[in-house]
Amino acid sequence: MSPSEPSKVEIALTVLAGALGSSMYRDYVDSLDLAGNEQILDYGSGSGTPARYLARRLLKNGGQVTCVDVSRVWMEVARQRLSRYTNVIFLQGELESLDLSDSSFDVVFVHFVLHDIPSERRMSVMSELARVLKSAGKLYLREPLRFISTVEVEQLIAANRLVLERASRGEIPTQGVIFSGVYLKPAG
Ligand SMILES: C[S@@+](CC[C@H](N)C(=O)[O-])C[C@H]1O[C@@H](n2cnc3c(N)ncnc32)[C@H](O)[C@@H]1O
Repeated sequence: MSPSEPSKVEIALTVLAGALGSSMYRDYVDSLDLAGNEQILDYGSGSGTPARYLARRLLKNGGQVTCVDVSRVWMEVARQRLSRYTNVIFLQGELESLDLSDSSFDVVFVHFVLHDIPSERRMSVMSELARVLKSAGKLYLREPLRFISTVEVEQLIAANRLVLERASRGEIPTQGVIFSGVYLKPAG
């Protein structure tokens, strides 16, 4: 199914919202347990606002961000906004069609994306995210609770044998109540 691409107005508003809420993105990325040398999959990277903070964080220690988005237009926006970062690569398309290798990422980062995926596709996406995550790797998930329930998130996580490390709730003006979860892929 082809994605509905954003209009110029939506792009401008999203980039503006990212700039106005930059501390929210930066603080969240700063709160992640990153050593700086990780291979990170940023699934549903959108305009690239979180990816920019991830890329900065990884620049010194040799880590790399792989931005994946189904939207050609968002991918192009992110590519332009992140052009100064040499440690970011861009892959456009549905995750399942990208032929990513098993266990190829230390971290999978999913920021306000899962709720955007049609509900009947979410299990397949979560299986693929779990497949590409290394053993002992972490999935960081953040979603607005007005669009997806914690029960559904828990089902997706449990079905893919990921283990909850910690979870919290908070509130963001543009998103309402949000849920943040950190999940571990057990070794073996
Ligand atoms: C609300 S935006 C979040 C963007 C970014 N993660 C952020 O927090 O700023 C959701 C993004 O998910 C992308 N998306 C939706 N369905 C997708 C899919 N099936 N595969 C990959 N990306 C998808 C959209 O194109 C959009 O860029």
